[in-house]
Amino acid sequence: MADPKAGLKKLHIKTYGCQMNVYDSERMAEAMGAEGYVLTDDPAAADMVLLNTCHIREKAAEKLYSDLGRLKPFKTAKPDLTVAVAGCVAQAEGAEILRRMPLVDLVVGSQNYHRLPAMVKAAEGGARPVDTEFPVEDKFDLLPDRPAASARPTAFLTVQEGCDKFCAFCVVPYTRGAEISRPVDRILTEAGKLVARGVREITLLGQNVNGYHGQGPDGAWGLGRLTRDLARIEGLERIRYTTSHPNDMADDLIAAHAEEPKLMPYLHLPVQSGSDRILKAMNRKHTAEDYLRLVERIRAARPDILLTSDFIVGFPGETEADFQATLDLIGAVTYGAAYSFKYSARPGTPAASREAVAAEVADDRLHRLQALITRQQRAAQAAMVGRVVTVLFEKPGRMPGQWVGKSEYLHAVHVAAPDLRPGVLARVRITASDPNSLAGELMGDYGPRRPVLAAV
Ligand code: 5AD
Ligand code: SF4
Repeated sequence: MADPKAGLKKLHIKTYGCQMNVYDSERMAEAMGAEGYVLTDDPAAADMVLLNTCHIREKAAEKLYSDLGRLKPFKTAKPDLTVAVAGCVAQAEGAEILRRMPLVDLVVGSQNYHRLPAMVKAAEGGARPVDTEFPVEDKFDLLPDRPAASARPTAFLTVQEGCDKFCAFCVVPYTRGAEISRPVDRILTEAGKLVARGVREITLLGQNVNGYHGQGPDGAWGLGRLTRDLARIEGLERIRYTTSHPNDMADDLIAAHAEEPKLMPYLHLPVQSGSDRILKAMNRKHTAEDYLRLVERIRAARPDILLTSDFIVGFPGETEADFQATLDLIGAVTYGAAYSFKYSARPGTPAASREAVAAEVADDRLHRLQALITRQQRAAQAAMVGRVVTVLFEKPGRMPGQWVGKSEYLHAVHVAAPDLRPGVLARVRITASDPNSLAGELMGDYGPRRPVLAAV
């Protein structure tokens, strides 16, 4: 029988950085799918390689150049291989990438993905197109609809992009531009299509997602109202959102955590530092006390909510006392997990010209902070043992007969049950906590005939 995929071109995508890039990569894959490209995991087999880049820290940008270096033998072996660079490094460095890396055929900034197919055609014709404009049109309106191919029960949905906050360390306001919210009807339509293809959990994405203020039928809607409306979609069981800024945590959104059962009890709420002096130098526009009061209000609405954060250590001017204040804040909040980073000076940001903290001092602080966070993470997981959680199963586990999914609190949970399938939502009693996941057993009358609370 003829292989239906024979004659199709192969596209290899590597995605760096945040979940918004993961979403963008999926949409670019769909756009190129409409041009006859299928995805491949193997760069050696590809006709086109697309690197969707991240610019948030220096290391992330350097990674692009070393990966491009590694593509050289592929390009030598197959001269008509198309090499495309997308994402935030593309946005920030534009034509500089073409100058530095002769093997790159095109550079597409993060707001221009709808133009990718035309740019690929131009590159095939010998041009080396660069597009890093901030266009007036919305790329998501012009990209093709998301197809019904994927069997995954979870999906990302970008509702907001860009940032107007200008934290002194951050490139995002420059690479992703001003805050823009997608209109409510577009989001509801896209969510409806995702659910129709079997998605049961949607994570709403935005650099400042809780600053969402999209046009609704009766004026601008905040994220609280949007989640309440999304929750009315039958078959959609879970809603999450990320990333949030403390100053945009509106009362209505906090109330939604109390009132809307489909809104999961998990919140990523970066604070970056616990020192008021450093928060001011970072231009965060809130104090440690403001953050602690906010956490109290959120926990009053949803006592079991699991909180996570981002921290930067070694920000210019950070003293041992400032760092201690960060440890104190972590002690006062008690997180379920956190990401922590050594400050990395980014060209063009206000903090870049300030005097850096010595590297050994920053390293030492990072280790101490991570040790504290690891203790809190282990304690949060250990506290789950004996509790009953609801797990949305995603895929078979590493051991035979095992399935893995996520609890409400985003903990990975594995159970012994050979006959599950993606999208099954079931109650699980947690029996053990491993360093990075939980183990549990399916509850009650689970069986092939009456399998689950609800099934796809
Ligand atoms: N250096 C170190 N970490 C940074 N982040 C953003 N910019 C920088 C930087 N210049 C971290 C912040 C942010 C997360 C996405 O990345 O903690 O919340
Ligand atoms: Fe960067 Fe601050 Fe905006 Fe977050 S809120 S994207 S850290 S400028």
